[in-house]
Amino acid sequence: MRVVVTGGLGFIGSAVVRHLITNTDHEVLNVDKITYAATEGSVASVAADPRYRHVAVDIVDAEAVRVAIEEFDPDGFIHLAAESHVDRSIDGPREFIMTNVVGTYELLQAARHHADRSGRGDGLRFLHVSTDEVFGTLSATDAPFDENSPYAPTSPYSASKAASDHLVRAWHETFGLSTIITNCSNNYGPFHFPEKLIPLMIVKALRHQPLPVYGAGDNVRDWLFVEDHARAIVRAFEAGRPGQTYAIGGNAERTNLDVVQAICDLLDHEAGPGASPRRELIQFVTDRPGHDLRYAIDASKASTELGWIPSLTFEDGLARTVRWYLENEWWWQPLLGERYEGQRLGVTGS
Ligand code: NAD
Ligand code: TYD
Repeated sequence: MRVVVTGGLGFIGSAVVRHLITNTDHEVLNVDKITYAATEGSVASVAADPRYRHVAVDIVDAEAVRVAIEEFDPDGFIHLAAESHVDRSIDGPREFIMTNVVGTYELLQAARHHADRSGRGDGLRFLHVSTDEVFGTLSATDAPFDENSPYAPTSPYSASKAASDHLVRAWHETFGLSTIITNCSNNYGPFHFPEKLIPLMIVKALRHQPLPVYGAGDNVRDWLFVEDHARAIVRAFEAGRPGQTYAIGGNAERTNLDVVQAICDLLDHEAGPGASPRRELIQFVTDRPGHDLRYAIDASKASTELGWIPSLTFEDGLARTVRWYLENEWWWQPLLGERYEGQRLGVTGS
């Protein structure tokens, strides 16, 4: 198949591109505008393959999207392009509305017209990658989210993703587009931009800088290794039922404090005896406004219908991730100087 992947220079999108080129016969057109979150290095291992191509196109630009799609003539879309950081959505929500809502609308329209024009009709598949954050927050005792959880987003980021999910569903019901939605929990792993919790704590701890834990550190996330997510996305794209939603998760709920302490211990272990314990770097700082307490996912539908389960435990995945950051400073070091210096985001709002 010829597959358009949007956002394929980002964290998860690049894992999807690497997976498609390495493990399938599909051709890939990577539609990525190259925001601060994009890196060419994340697809360097597959970029020379003749089945891979990138175009620097903004999905909000309907004409540029139309031209790229007409030229490539895809059989399907895997849509990941988004603004993805909750703290940045507090500082500046506008880009989130533009890319996540308007951009998804433009892509749906382009897919719909391409399905008609090319004669593929409902044979053309459109997989929309979304988040568990659209369901809002769980209490400590609530059952995990699943495909029937009501939408209740609380941040500008999650509200914009919820809006995009509703558009995707509507394009299926109204226009017959063969859409599939995946709602996944927090990802971690290689090529994760060092503004998100796990990579930020790794690079700060490596430099013996203070580790800012929001509030009391008791918020809970369900962590999934990014390459397991990429496998789930491609599996849902190939075998999911049109009109369906699949909840994807790692079955690995951890408090933020547990996660940061585990990173400190892994780095101490790498450094060997004698170094001062990195747990001493942990600082509890002002909480994030509207901070969701807990996310958790029941992924049994994905397991039953798609035959997908995570392959790594959180402990194995985190150890692998820490090692990757130690060995791949070439990738993250330049980002910190040029794009983001590790400062606190998302406290003031505008
Ligand atoms: P990311 O921020 O690392 O990457 C986003 C990519 O999209 C970047 O390469 C960027 O250049 C591109 N992009 C942004 N705006 C664009 C536009 N207007 N036109 C074209 N390209 C544009 O994001 P990520 O963490 O890889 O997330 C990918 C998707 O997965 C998002 O839709 C996100 O909501 C969803 N998701 C993320 C997580 C997570 O833990 N990171 C969990 C569940 C779902
Ligand atoms: P993040 O990686 O931004 O993902 P999300 O907000 O989409 O879940 O944050 C994960 C958790 O870590 C979240 O509860 C906020 C918290 N956090 C910190 O405590 N300190 C930090 O510096 C960051 C970036 C996040």
